[in-house]
Amino acid sequence: MAASEKLVAAARAAREHAVADFSRFKVGAALETDTGEVITGCNVENASYGLTICAERVAIFKALSEGKRAFTRIVVVADTADPTPPCGACRQIIWEFCGDIEVTLANMQKVTKTLQMKDLLPLPFDKRLLKG
Ligand code: THU
Repeated sequence: MAASEKLVAAARAAREHAVADFSRFKVGAALETDTGEVITGCNVENASYGLTICAERVAIFKALSEGKRAFTRIVVVADTADPTPPCGACRQIIWEFCGDIEVTLANMQKVTKTLQMKDLLPLPFDKRLLKG
């Protein structure tokens, strides 16, 4: 089932909280748990630029810190005509904690793309490889 309008709306609302004083590029994310709960995140930038954290990772770390462990989909919203996909670091984290979930990209008007994590991160490095 495709991401609901509710999840897209939650990501758009979260984007409003973005702390993006340096890039002015605001991003919102909304993560759905297997029980239908919605956990949101926004990007948070820092004067030490490398400490910036993306909206997707904020949502995932919030969810994990609240004891949620199983997720069904994530929506990422940015104010761009072309789809804004998760960066490389976020792809690794989404794969690690959410697996092959559905990823929906949207802007302020519409959904621009929906795809699966396995297609965003082919040949992933993950914990399966660490088992000796
Ligand atoms: N950003 C996200 O939050 N998620 C993405 O998927 C792409 C990039 C943020 C990081 C930074 O605050 C700003 O967008 C510009 O890179």
